[in-house]
Order: sequence, then structure tokens, then C-alpha cells
Amino acid sequence: MPEPIVQVEALTKTFVHMGRPLEVLRGIDLRIDQGEVLAIVGTSGAGKSTLLHCIGTLDTPTQGKIRIGKEEITGLSSKRLAAIRNRSIGFVFQFHHLLPEFTAIENVMMPGLIQGRSQSEMRGHAEGLLAEVGLAKRGTHRPGELSGGEQQRVALARALVLSPKLILADEPTGNLDSKTGADIQALFFDMNRKHGTTIIVVTHDRSFAESMPRVVSMKDGLVERDTRNTAIPSYASLKEQGAKLEEKAAEAAPEPAAASDA
Ligand SMILES: Nc1ncnc2c1ncn2[C@@H]1O[C@H](COP(=O)(O)OP(=O)(O)O)[C@@H](O)[C@H]1O
Ligand SMILES: [Mg+2]
Repeated sequence: MPEPIVQVEALTKTFVHMGRPLEVLRGIDLRIDQGEVLAIVGTSGAGKSTLLHCIGTLDTPTQGKIRIGKEEITGLSSKRLAAIRNRSIGFVFQFHHLLPEFTAIENVMMPGLIQGRSQSEMRGHAEGLLAEVGLAKRGTHRPGELSGGEQQRVALARALVLSPKLILADEPTGNLDSKTGADIQALFFDMNRKHGTTIIVVTHDRSFAESMPRVVSMKDGLVERDTRNTAIPSYASLKEQGAKLEEKAAEAAPEPAAASDA
């Protein structure tokens, strides 16, 4: 049985704007298992970013529950939330939020340095990830010396550097041309399959969403549809298949030979 990494129950979020309540999330239920990769889609204003921020502990819901792994995060102190966020979650936004005065490699190292990890450990790690996202030769470039797609690759490497269980991406291809966007999409899949990272991507890129094994559609603060395409593999489904194949192999295997009494 796959383990859930995100469980959202009866989640609501109401903003008060100009003295009037605005119900942005109106009762969301969602379970996401470890190793899944999925898209959240829906018209602008449907509440996608708000949901992602609540799951990512960047915002707090009005009512309802969120569990990350086994931990119930609703009601925790902001210090505790920050600890969970740093340990378990990586973010990729539409605009990369890289630090302009630092090189690509320094940007990727940064979350580790902030945590007090050593320069040498983080440098090795960051170099490996930059190579994985196809930027082995761009480590010394500053963000201003990189294309939009390259900047987003750096942002993905940075999101992965502390080996989070979960990556949350909000319109990561929203600012890119379609070819560059497609490359970034492919990279998300690579990272999911290679590292087993669970990835939730908010997107209004139709082809991106259609390439996903699971698409959650939101409308007016509710989940309108939750569809799965089992033909598209994710780390989670491959792992489950692997487990089933192992079971089959075990069933088919001959009984172990009785120990000889020599
Ligand atoms: N901090 C806020 N204060 C008031 N209203 C907000 C705030 N953040 C978002 N909203 C409103 O909540 C609704 C949903 O926003 P959002 O989650 O960003 O939608 P989406 O990402 O699906 O486009 C929008 O109508 C938006 O104006
Ligand atoms: Mg949004």
C-alpha cells in the first residue's frame, strides 16, 4: 500500500478583503501518495496557489487539516512549520527567485548553507544537481547571465538540494516559451523517477497537465475532478509495479531446498 505524503481534509481558506470575507478554498479533500507526480489545474482565481501555499506551510488554512507524512501541520507554531518546510519541502515558482548577486552554484548551495551545512558538502551536492539538470557548465554564471529556462533549471536544482520528499511548483513554465517549458516538464518527470520526489505542479499549460499521470482540476475553491492516466508512469506507479512483480516472482519461485543434514 503506498504511503500518503500529503493528506488534506475539509480544508477551507477565507481571506478578509475590505472587511468582507472571501472564501477561496471551500472544502478541499485530497490525498497524494509518496512518489506521485501530478498537476493542479483550473481557471485563474480557482484557489490553486492558495492550496499550494497551505500544503507548503507558507500560509495557514482557516479550517480543516493537512498532514505532511505522518505529521499534522495545522495549528503548529511558525517555527515548527519552518522546520518542516526546510526539511521536507522544495519550492519552484513561476519567477525563479534566484539571488542575482550569487552564481548558479551558490544559489543551489544556499538552502544548505542556511541550515549550517558545510561549503564543501553543499558544493559537491550542488554540482551534481546542476549536472543532472543539464547545467554542468553554467555553475559560475549569475542568474542574469542565464536564459529563462536555465534559471528555472537552477531553481529546480535548488529545490532538490536538501533532498526534500515533496516539491511544490507554481506555474513553473508560465514564463517560458513552449519548447523551453517542455524541457522543464521533462526534467520534473526525470527528477520524480530518479529521486522518488513527490511533485505537485500547478499549471495552466494544457499539454503539461495532459502529460501527467494525475490531474486535479479546481473550480471556485473546490476539487471539481481528479483524474488518473495509468498509462503514464510515475515513480509511485513504477514502484508499485515493482513490488507486484516481486510478489509474482516470489510466488513463482521454487521452494528453497531443505537444508541438508550433513
Ligand atoms: N492574500 C489575499 N488576500 C485576499 N484575497 C486573496 C489573497 N490571496 C489570494 N486571494 C484571492 O483568492 C482567490 C484565489 O487566488 P489564488 O489561489 O491565487 O488562485 P489561482 O492560483 O488559482 O489563480 C483570488 O480571487 C485571489 O484574488
Ligand atoms: Mg496562482
